[in-house]
Amino acid sequence: MTQSSAPDDKLMSDTLLVREYLANLPDKTELASSERDQYRHAIKKLLKEKNAVLVAHYYTDPELQSLAEETGGIVADSLEMARFGRDCNAQVLVVAGVRFMGETASILSPEKTVLMPTVEATCSLDIACPIEEFAPFCDQHSDRTVVVYANTSAAVKARADWVVTSSIALDVIEHLKAKGEKILWAPDRHLGHYIQEKTGADMLLWNAACIVHEEFKAKGLFDMKTLYPDAKILAHPESPASVLSMADVIGSTSQLIKAACDLPDQTFIVATDQGIFYKMQQLAPEKTFIIAPTAGKDATCRSCASCPWMGMNSLQAMYESLRDGSNEVRVEAELAKKAMIPLQRMLDFSAQHKLKVQGKA
Ligand code: 13P
Ligand code: SF4
Repeated sequence: MTQSSAPDDKLMSDTLLVREYLANLPDKTELASSERDQYRHAIKKLLKEKNAVLVAHYYTDPELQSLAEETGGIVADSLEMARFGRDCNAQVLVVAGVRFMGETASILSPEKTVLMPTVEATCSLDIACPIEEFAPFCDQHSDRTVVVYANTSAAVKARADWVVTSSIALDVIEHLKAKGEKILWAPDRHLGHYIQEKTGADMLLWNAACIVHEEFKAKGLFDMKTLYPDAKILAHPESPASVLSMADVIGSTSQLIKAACDLPDQTFIVATDQGIFYKMQQLAPEKTFIIAPTAGKDATCRSCASCPWMGMNSLQAMYESLRDGSNEVRVEAELAKKAMIPLQRMLDFSAQHKLKVQGKA
């Protein structure tokens, strides 16, 4: 059984809210190559001085991803970012991603300082699932196990029984279904629907979506596939069901990268944020990666295969945050204690199922 939590007018008001956020985003300033070099040099120096490490997501600017790699940090999906931040020895974590990733790092490592190049970088899923609406919804369905996606606020996590990322969501729901549990899932309805279809679990779905993946359209994908008949389609499960139905591989960012490397095919059409091409191209330089078509219109599109909030992370902002210790993310202790429980459950589960999770592509 799949149910929707709210009528489409909720989705409409969420969409308007997200548009308002996007309209107010500052334009990105392009740096000259000499300026870039200066920032890179200065960041490397500060990282050493402050015993700091970069923890970057695959969707951030390749410039930040390469800097993380060169300095002993990590470029990863949201699950691995959380694990790395918790386990590394650095005193300061510089999280290049969106706000929930910084909050997760702070919850898991309260003894470390967590900085972000920008604390304004949010996520449409987080925006569309405010705790004031989510908590009463959970109360109304107290017979259900509450499973929330990592792309949520600390307060929403604190209300949940489980937190999951896209790397591990399917395995956790399969596990809960085997125990006979009914699920309340939030916030991504496409990911929820995909898991529900795969597992047959009884899931009540919150009604929100990722503005980036929502833009991928099956019609355009179909046309593109006729142009590249031999290409394999890789899709993130935040994409709509019509897109997922055409995909050869569906998975988290790390699972898609693994598939791009492991499959013998030469050409891939990729339905996710194009920041991922940096790692795909690095690991499989002989292969061709094409971004899946979106419905957005050229320059007016601010979320087409490119997350506007991930894009707010810049070299300049990272340098300033490290230099000044600004943009610190700290989750209040009581809230962090509650949010830690479902997060820890996810990490324990992933440790127990390690081979299975890593092997899935
Ligand atoms: P991953 O956990 O697959 O990296 O996804 C995070 C995300 O925000 C996708 O839009
Ligand atoms: Fe959120 Fe989508 Fe951006 Fe991921 S890509 S951070 S889900 S808005």
